[in-house]
Amino acid sequence: MSWTPQPGPQRAFVNSPVFEVVYGGARGGGKTDAALGDFALHVARFGAAAKGLLVRRQRVALEPTIARARQIFAGAGGAKWAEARSRFEWPCGARLYFRYLDNDADADLYQGHDYTRVYVEELTQFPNPAPVDKLKATLRSAAGAHCGFRATCNPGGPGHNWVKARYIDAGAEAIIAEPFRNPFDGTVSELKRQFIPAKLADNPALLKNDPNYIPRLQQSGSADLVRAWLEGDWNVIQGAFFDGWSNRNIVAPFAVPHDWLRLRAFDWGYAAPFSVGWWAQVADDYRAGPGLILPRGALVRYREWYGCTGRPGEGVRLDAEAVARGILQREVGETIGVAVADPSIFSQDGGPSIGERMRRAGVRFRPADNTRVGKAGALSGWYWC
Ligand SMILES: Nc1ncnc2c1ncn2[C@@H]1O[C@H](COP(=O)(O)OP(=O)(O)OP(=O)(O)O)[C@@H](O)[C@H]1O
Ligand SMILES: [Mg+2]
Repeated sequence: MSWTPQPGPQRAFVNSPVFEVVYGGARGGGKTDAALGDFALHVARFGAAAKGLLVRRQRVALEPTIARARQIFAGAGGAKWAEARSRFEWPCGARLYFRYLDNDADADLYQGHDYTRVYVEELTQFPNPAPVDKLKATLRSAAGAHCGFRATCNPGGPGHNWVKARYIDAGAEAIIAEPFRNPFDGTVSELKRQFIPAKLADNPALLKNDPNYIPRLQQSGSADLVRAWLEGDWNVIQGAFFDGWSNRNIVAPFAVPHDWLRLRAFDWGYAAPFSVGWWAQVADDYRAGPGLILPRGALVRYREWYGCTGRPGEGVRLDAEAVARGILQREVGETIGVAVADPSIFSQDGGPSIGERMRRAGVRFRPADNTRVGKAGALSGWYWC
């Protein structure tokens, strides 16, 4: 057999000239096939210079991928699986290594290796990017083969947030260029990265051969996770308080009418991120766009200020007065009717509390009721519809 990409994202993935490409979304979208097919095409182009590494977090999870790779590679240059070395060997000299990478220390073992392609399967299974990033240093080719990092993933999993922030939030197929300064000669170059969304509809090969795949998927996880897997929706947050959250809760920007009640909610953080959310309560049923009516009483989060460095869980270390100033700057011309904060900001520890310092700087809060107790149709006084 000879493998060919299906039209759409699979083809975009194997044709992308970008250094770093993440192919993520629906389960069964054809991501693993695309990664294997990509390496077969890479071997056809670069022959003996093609040296690939494919990693996952657990060795056992590599088995089905190896089985599928045997089929694809047998018809693509006649590669054979060498079990003892855990790699595919092509008669022309190309190699593809299958390895597992459980933690940061495992990544150190690859120092000094050279690859022309690194594939990370199930990127969202890595809780942080450190081990994966280390592998990028292995991408080099003295023989001039085009080097690239390729990853596949589904929404959900311990790495959902950093993967989403780094690759997905920029939008489908957007190419992000990150500048790097060469410390030796001061020149600046760019490494580019791109996200390609996987949708089940783009894998007709699977839907035709296995019509029961979707019903089986529907039985395999929480309703939210299944929706994420079917639609490739990255806004699903496992374990989130509001677990009905999805793209449907996001509305296009509109001017908030002046007579709506405005609220401000605050969660303090210094070494960890702080979060300020501004909300408006819909005064009467309101048409916010074609076919979209916001019901009376609904809350719309119209602004946020999240004090994060960009690295997950790391705060920007602003003091209470600086956060208060930032809040006042953002609220110029607005009247905030209700302002609540995590009650812990009022606890005193020798000096004035965070809440007191912010009050002196002109920003008042009252302690929120943050007990997470569901009452008939209400969540601690918050309604979710
Ligand atoms: N181009 C193709 N030609 C033939 N079969 C394909 C092709 N692309 C995908 N398939 C088949 O579709 C099925 C699902 O594809 P694949 O395993 O690559 O999906 P996936 O997105 O990696 O799934 P998961 O999210 O579960 O990891 C597999 O049986 C695969 O062989
Ligand atoms: Mg896969």
